[in-house]
Amino acid sequence: MLKKWKQIGGFAMAAFLFVAVQSQAAQEDRAAQGQKLYDDLCAICHTEKPAKMMGQPVDGLVAKMEKVKGLTPPPNDKVAEMQEALKPLSGQDMKDIAVYLNGLK
Ligand code: HEC
Repeated sequence: MLKKWKQIGGFAMAAFLFVAVQSQAAQEDRAAQGQKLYDDLCAICHTEKPAKMMGQPVDGLVAKMEKVKGLTPPPNDKVAEMQEALKPLSGQDMKDIAVYLNGLK
């Protein structure tokens, strides 16, 4: 009986590790995707190492992007340009960028 539980425990642990590794890989894909978008669209203004955004929580970063996106009328030309950069991005794209920025140190 005990042996059986050990087997079940071992299996559960293996399954858990598998899921953990999978989701970490998925997270890295998201960050890689976010980096590409960031380098193409954002780094030109915010630099490659945006001190104010690095390591910030993902949800907060997305909320700030949404806030800038929603400024009407845009307060200046730079913000208008950023809005143009944000326009084609999906919610997932913005989240990917946020995951990338969150991982920067
Ligand atoms: C044309 C220049 C420009 C581009 C391109 C641009 N931004 Fe911005 N961004 C600004 C300006 C200007 C502000 C508002 C003032 C500030 O915080 O410096 C701003 C503000 C922000 C903020 C809010 C910062 C805060 O602390 O409130 C975030 C987040 C942000 N941008 C992310 C992005 C992302 C992600 C991209 C790429 C999709 C992007 N920006 C592209 C110029 C730009």
